[in-house]
This record gives sequence, C-alpha cells and structure tokens, in this order.
Amino acid sequence: MSEQLPPKAVYPPPGVYTGVDPDIFTNSPARSPSIPAAPARPEPKLVEMTIDGMPVSVPRDMTILDACRAQGIDIPTLCALSTLTPEGVCRLCVVDTGGRALTPSCSAKVAQGMTVQTENEKVRHARKLVLELLASSVDLDLAGPVRPDGSLRAYMERYGADPSRFGPSARPAAPGERDAAEAGHHHVPDGAAAETVAQPVKVDNDLYIRDYSKCILCYKCVEACGVDAQNTFAISVAGRGFGARVSTEFDLPLNESACVFCGNCINVCPTGALMFRSEYELRQADRWHEDAQTTTRTICPYCGVGCTLELTVQDNRIVRVLSPLDSQVTSGNLCVKGRFGFDFVQARPEGAEPGA
Ligand code: SF4
Ligand code: SF4
Ligand code: FES
Repeated sequence: MSEQLPPKAVYPPPGVYTGVDPDIFTNSPARSPSIPAAPARPEPKLVEMTIDGMPVSVPRDMTILDACRAQGIDIPTLCALSTLTPEGVCRLCVVDTGGRALTPSCSAKVAQGMTVQTENEKVRHARKLVLELLASSVDLDLAGPVRPDGSLRAYMERYGADPSRFGPSARPAAPGERDAAEAGHHHVPDGAAAETVAQPVKVDNDLYIRDYSKCILCYKCVEACGVDAQNTFAISVAGRGFGARVSTEFDLPLNESACVFCGNCINVCPTGALMFRSEYELRQADRWHEDAQTTTRTICPYCGVGCTLELTVQDNRIVRVLSPLDSQVTSGNLCVKGRFGFDFVQARPEGAEPGA
C-alpha cells in the first residue's frame, strides 16, 4: 500500500497578503557571483584658506595643526597627540588667525577664508614665553613633543628661550608637600627665585615610577587613563593654579589606587615623568645607553588580541615595552601583561646562553 504524502506547504498561506510576488518564496532570484562594491565615500568638503600667505584647500573637519603639517610646516606641540582628544593646555602650538588672542592650532578647526600665520613675531614671542615658563619650573631635560627624547631642546633654541631670566630655582618641595597643597592656599612668591615643581620621585611599586619634577601637566596621562583609552580614571588633576598636580584618589600609592598598571600613561607621557622602573634604575646607575639599544616590533604572546609591542632591548635584556601609536590594533595601548609581563623572557640562569 502506498504511503500518503503530506500536502505540500504553500507560502505564504492562502489569504495572507504579503505585498510581494508569492513566487519569490519558492524561486528566489539568482545571487550576484561577486561581493557588491562598498558605496563610494563622499568626498570630504573642502574649505579655502591661507597659510603663511599660501592659498590651500583642506578638508573642513581638519585641525589647523594638521592643515599646517600637511603643508610641511613644523609647529611645536607638547600636549597634543594623534591618539588623544586635544586638550589645548600647553599653548605651544599657537598660531595667529588674526584675532585678538592667538589660537591653539591643535584643537581649533580650519574655517572658510581663514588666514593663518604660523611664525610671525607675536607667535614666536608666545612660544618663547611658554617654553621659558615651563623650563624655569619643570625639569625638561628629556621632554619631546611625542616621546621623552630631549627633542624639545631644539625648539628652545629656535625660539631663543632663556628660562634663567626668572632667577634661580626656588627650593624643591619636601616629600608629600605639593600633594598636601590645598586649592586657594598659595604662598606668595618672593620674586627672587623661580617657582618650581621639583620634588622627590615617587617609587611605590616594581613597575613604574612617577617623577613629577618633570610633569608639565599636559593631561595626556589623565586622558589615556580616562575616556580616551583605558576608562579606569585612576589619576586626575588635583589642586589649582601652581599647586595643580596629577594625583591618584587621596594621593594613594599606585598599588592601593584604582590603577590597573596598563602603563598606557607611560606610553603618552612626553617628558619622562612616568617611566618604567627598569629604565629609571638604569638611568640612576648611569647605565641607560640609547646608542647600545635596539627596538623590535613584535606581537604580545599572552592573548588573542595580538597587540603590537615595541621592545627596547639593551645588553640582551628587555628594558622597556612601548606600543606604536600608529598600530591599528592597539593605538599605543596595552594591558598589564603585554606592558610589564616580560621578565619571563630573560629569567634565565646567570651565564646561560640566549635560548637556553
Ligand atoms: S605625568 Fe606626563 S603625561 Fe601626565 S600630565 Fe605630567 S607630563 Fe603629562
Ligand atoms: S597586551 Fe594584553 S590585550 Fe594585548 S595581546 Fe597582550 S595580553 Fe592581550
Ligand atoms: S599642543 Fe596645542 S595647546 Fe598644547
């Protein structure tokens, strides 16, 4: 006896109106054999402006700094970084846009018809004064626009900055003195000595040190610890005026604070105020030799994210781990393992050959 087959399903069921040809449910149209092209990106809207007398067309959402750099013009910066939101606090990048006040080029956008002077007398004078005020109160020996590589010195020379004209440095603060300063309770400077942020180095953990005698209060570390990268908010700016300083909550030691030791703050600090302890100790012992170091890019071995590491190696030992800002995976950021978990590479018995 032949088996009774169930009736064939009809889509859509009779009486259900779909507004489409019912045939499409059983005879779908042939698919394209190739992946459709992405829709064309709209051309960026351009504005016409003048930079140092030269007419240019630039995308209207560009900063003045980027527009000038695209023309090959060198503008000094300290608090700006490609991976961070511009804060516009150091005022080193100012340019003249014809207004009463100079304009911070790192945070101001271009505009139609704008006229920019990047090196006139007013601009040079402002940059010179910014550098003098900073250098008279902060240790800028290692400072550079992006990395602590000492390259700020070239700008000091270019603008003829002479911080010594403010007089000798005032006495350094005692341990904890600047951290205890209360907002609004400043001592009156005697005018005979230049105010200083000099103070003892904070060494409170094995991974990195904080030398706030080198801190220019550029906010980069605060941004990297906050909304721009890490979202940990372990550090912020406490105090007001000359008493302002970067601090953990209640000035706690790092390992009692919210810090997760990602070290992303070290990666963006332009002055060396935040430094690997390994680097700090080598510098203290006068054994930090940049000409004997190599830099190698590799991939973090710890997890599947695959962050790009930039290892600084000296005497066959890793002495620092940075991450390139232009890495599409990390944008310069790492976690504690990639940043500081390198000792296992070199925990070999004394005298053993590499690879043993
Ligand atoms: S510690 Fe470094 S990154 Fe942080 S504010 Fe000071 S100079 Fe800038
Ligand atoms: S740095 Fe951290 S997140 Fe990045 S690959 Fe290494 S372990 Fe993973
Ligand atoms: S780099 Fe523009 S204000 Fe600091």
